[in-house]
Amino acid sequence: MPGPLLDALKGSILEIPPIWLMRQAGRYLPEYRELRAEKGGFLKLVYDSSAAAEITVQPIRRFAFDGAILFSDILIVPHAMGQGLEFLAGEGPKLSPTLLEAKLDDFTSVADRFDPIYETVRKTRLMISDQVTMLGFAGSPWTVATYMIAGQGSKDQGPARLLAYRDPARMEAICEAIIEVSITYLRGQIDAGAEAVQLFDSWAGSLAPDEFERWVVAPNAKITAAIKQSHPNTPVIGFPKGAGAKLPAYARETGVDAVGLDETLDPAWANSMLPEGMPVQGNLDPLLLEAGGPELPKRTKILIEAFEGRPHIFNLGHGIGQFTPIEHVEQLLRAVRG
Ligand code: CP3
Repeated sequence: MPGPLLDALKGSILEIPPIWLMRQAGRYLPEYRELRAEKGGFLKLVYDSSAAAEITVQPIRRFAFDGAILFSDILIVPHAMGQGLEFLAGEGPKLSPTLLEAKLDDFTSVADRFDPIYETVRKTRLMISDQVTMLGFAGSPWTVATYMIAGQGSKDQGPARLLAYRDPARMEAICEAIIEVSITYLRGQIDAGAEAVQLFDSWAGSLAPDEFERWVVAPNAKITAAIKQSHPNTPVIGFPKGAGAKLPAYARETGVDAVGLDETLDPAWANSMLPEGMPVQGNLDPLLLEAGGPELPKRTKILIEAFEGRPHIFNLGHGIGQFTPIEHVEQLLRAVRG
């Protein structure tokens, strides 16, 4: 029997929405910080499938979320494509050489970097009940490309946007390469036990409308079509963060089964603009969760009511912040589940 999260993704309207939180495994959990200190760094955790499975399950044990998201990172795809990757403490990711300094052809792919990730999925699946949905993921090509081009997080994704205007053929080639590897990677996760997958397009919001069609809608549509072809029963969740008014077109044109909403979107607007019956995921402000207080249960209830009549998966509008008190997550769960 599938769990409630998978049910909602397949179109069921449930009285109590299933819930998971983006970045639910991570630094706000003391048990995560402890294991990371022991193993000596984020990437070591990701490539150690026993540690990664343990971290994937930590938030399930503590909060009984309805979904377990694979503990990994969107930048494992460039790493497997042969780009150097480091996570420096407190500084975020560094990729080298950048695609401003090197060409794709200079990289030698290291495809077996995906093997421990698939092993994490298999191990996790054995550690959770069949009521908990196993979620896989990949970054969307545009978001991954912004890191490959700039070598790190970049203000307004300027380097990637400039490259896309100056040399769209090169940008196209970069996206095509990411698409191909991401399809292999997602299929591998599904074969290992992922029951649904999410495409994280965290920087979709920086693009002008025509650019959004070309670098967000088209690549996500290609990946979704490939997954539908090989794994027609595995739901795909698209999360084009910052899409704003472009979300309804994204929902109609990409073929994704469900859409993730960021916290800037009005649930009533989204409900009226999205295709009838399409499941939505979201969209409580992660900073409201961090702040806590009486607004937290109040807004939680309003949000749930706004999506009555449509399949809804409760989530944040973006990842949970590292300074979020654990009691606030517990308070949120009481507000959602009663
Ligand atoms: O949701 C989950 O719990 C699954 C694991 C997951 C991580 N990253 C773990 C992580 C997922 C799904 C991601 C996605 C990811 N990674 C995105 C897209 C979603 C988003 O949040 O926008 C992006 C843009 C990245 C790239 C990335 N990874 C950055 C910019 C950073 C540094 C900033 C930060 O939050 O530390 C990371 C590191 C990272 N990825 C951590 C975790 C738990 C923190 C590493 C640590 O322990 O220091």
